[in-house]
Amino acid sequence: MVEWDDKYSVGISIIDDEHKQLIDILNKVIYAKEHKDNQEEIRKILKEMIGYALTHFQTEENSMIKFNYPEYQDHKDEHHGFFTKTIAYVDKMIEGDFQIANDLLEYLKQWLVNHIQGTDKKYIDCFKKHGLK
Ligand SMILES: [Fe+2]
Repeated sequence: MVEWDDKYSVGISIIDDEHKQLIDILNKVIYAKEHKDNQEEIRKILKEMIGYALTHFQTEENSMIKFNYPEYQDHKDEHHGFFTKTIAYVDKMIEGDFQIANDLLEYLKQWLVNHIQGTDKKYIDCFKKHGLK
């Protein structure tokens, strides 16, 4: 179980709240991993990941556009990578492969470290300068 920690915070409440959803999804994967018969859980998790990608990335990207964030394109590319990866998992599932929990968990853990604790932190100064809190 991964719990929210200040080290994940970007200090902007709407974004932190959405990042908490990602941790929630990650914990659902940990839970699903413990079950053999987890097809329904995996299906729901992938659906949530798509929802997360469509709403949360929009939140960040809208601010980036509005504030003329210089690293917008690179950041957007990383978001696109997450979406593409999620769709690849959906494809596997459609093909009947539900043995993806381990892989999915590793991917989400990496996302938490590399993107949320890495790439996302870079926009903090820019977003705060423009009044987000
Ligand atoms: Fe991001």
